[in-house]
Amino acid sequence: MKKILFSCLVVGTFGFAQGYTQDARIQDMQKMAKAMQKIQSGFFYNNPDSVNAGAENLKAAIFKIKLTVKDVKNKDVYKKWLTNNASTTRRTQMKIEEYCDVISERFSDGNKKQALQVYNKIASECIRCHVNPVFTYNK
Ligand code: HEC
Repeated sequence: MKKILFSCLVVGTFGFAQGYTQDARIQDMQKMAKAMQKIQSGFFYNNPDSVNAGAENLKAAIFKIKLTVKDVKNKDVYKKWLTNNASTTRRTQMKIEEYCDVISERFSDGNKKQALQVYNKIASECIRCHVNPVFTYNK
């Protein structure tokens, strides 16, 4: 029992970044941006299929985001602590998943303004992470 618990802890702590490179993360980020565009174009062209497809793509991509191998192996303890803090949490992923479902539902029900409001909530989640000073790429 102790052994199992210990293995879980090890997997929980070190397993999450296994093999996840920065290139892979950039690709996943691009997939998410495309998905957001698909949702948005569905809004403007009044096309629920496009909204739904974008929402599904985004749901698939958001669960792939995690710390990269480089982040995890960072020897600088302070930087590592910062990136850990900025890492996507399960909670954020679940929240975005839920927002995607709400967008699809509302838009199909003809409640377009509400769909847009929820879309903006997702965009805020993206930017909330991007403005984190630990990610120097956007400076
Ligand atoms: C947990 C933090 C985090 C969240 C949440 C996040 N991003 Fe990112 N994003 C990053 C980081 C870090 C990079 C820089 C690329 C890298 O180092 O992996 C990035 C880069 C990008 C890029 C540029 C990719 C390139 O070609 O250079 C796009 C586009 C992007 N994100 C879109 C999004 C969208 C859309 C969302 C929300 C649905 C989102 N991101 C949510 C951290 C995040």
